[in-house]
Amino acid sequence: MSEPRGSKRKKTAAPLRIIQVGAGAMGHTWLHTLGRSPDTELVGLVDLDLELAQRVSEEELAAVVPVARSLTELVDLVGADAVVNVTVPGAHNPVNEQALRAGLPVLCEKPISPTVAEAQRIAEVAKETGELLMISQSRRYLNQFNALREAVAELGTVASVSCEFARAPHFGGFREQMPYPLLVDMAIHQFDSARALLGEDPVSVYCESYNPGWSWFAGDAVATAIFEFPGGARFVFNGSWCNPGQETSWNSRWRVAGELGTATWDGDNAPLAGEPPREVPVDDDLEQTDGSLAEFVRCVRTGEPSTTAADSNVQSLAMVEAAVRSATEKRRVTIAEVVGDISSSTS
Ligand SMILES: NC(=O)c1ccc[n+]([C@@H]2O[C@H](COP(=O)([O-])OP(=O)(O)OC[C@H]3O[C@@H](n4cnc5c(N)ncnc54)[C@H](O)[C@@H]3O)[C@@H](O)[C@H]2O)c1
Repeated sequence: MSEPRGSKRKKTAAPLRIIQVGAGAMGHTWLHTLGRSPDTELVGLVDLDLELAQRVSEEELAAVVPVARSLTELVDLVGADAVVNVTVPGAHNPVNEQALRAGLPVLCEKPISPTVAEAQRIAEVAKETGELLMISQSRRYLNQFNALREAVAELGTVASVSCEFARAPHFGGFREQMPYPLLVDMAIHQFDSARALLGEDPVSVYCESYNPGWSWFAGDAVATAIFEFPGGARFVFNGSWCNPGQETSWNSRWRVAGELGTATWDGDNAPLAGEPPREVPVDDDLEQTDGSLAEFVRCVRTGEPSTTAADSNVQSLAMVEAAVRSATEKRRVTIAEVVGDISSSTS
């Protein structure tokens, strides 16, 4: 069997030649991230809005790169090694499939796909092609969060994880029109973080979602969800996007209680653990999209599995879909109901 396209280069220490698809708001963040990395070289920029891609390439990049409306137009032209996908969620699957079938690994923004069924399908395509499809869950790459994870590992059996998120952003645009903005657009971060903290995937959820009279969102901007994990631990998410006053950090406020003690994190400072509570040492690794990109490059070069590969990340999206179903049908929903028979994964 011939080697997949680009795989020889992927295994060398040369910078990975990247095509970025999506030049919108988050696309800018990724262009800066790629620009900072010594391990990647941007070789092409794709956007349905060709004028936008052209403008960004000519005015905002250190070196002008070829642009196109579709990935397929650029792949052969520029000889890429990998793709960064920062398109809207509805375009994730088509773009990811084009890249994977062209033999290119992909680092894709969250959420993997709009639905669990679509996410499962693209995870199968990744498996079939043997190429990495990694989902960027940027909040896994926060040094304080990883210090909290280390503190939680010292707590013995965990009984409860609680996460309070209270903000009052005025985004305008699609978030203010969608049915479950908090659960679908935001809570995937906290749900994915809970899986990372507990090192397992939940079995069920009960969720209430609602919209206070003063909310400026059309859909529910407030939700409380209780997830049960296989070891018996409960994860309680209490979130609001229309909470003026005393806002929490964008990283939320966390409390984890176990048989040997408690760890807390306010989202902006070193976590506290022990009795009396002391600051947990925090490393100085690359964070957010920089950390995510570093893991992607390492996994592409070494073949190591990614902690947020598509088949595992489906479980974070399943938490969102199950919470929405629970809120809609006003009943406890098992994760198995939304993932079907696809077996569980590592977290
Ligand atoms: N990790 C985070 O904190 C974070 C924050 C914001 C956004 N995001 C995610 O980033 C992604 C992009 O969000 P955004 O705010 O930049 O959206 P955006 O609407 O500003 O930009 C998306 C761009 O993708 C382009 N596009 C759409 N379909 C395309 C296709 N098929 N081919 C090529 N280009 C296409 C659009 O023309 C647009 O320029 C979403 O998945 C979003 O959830 C993540």
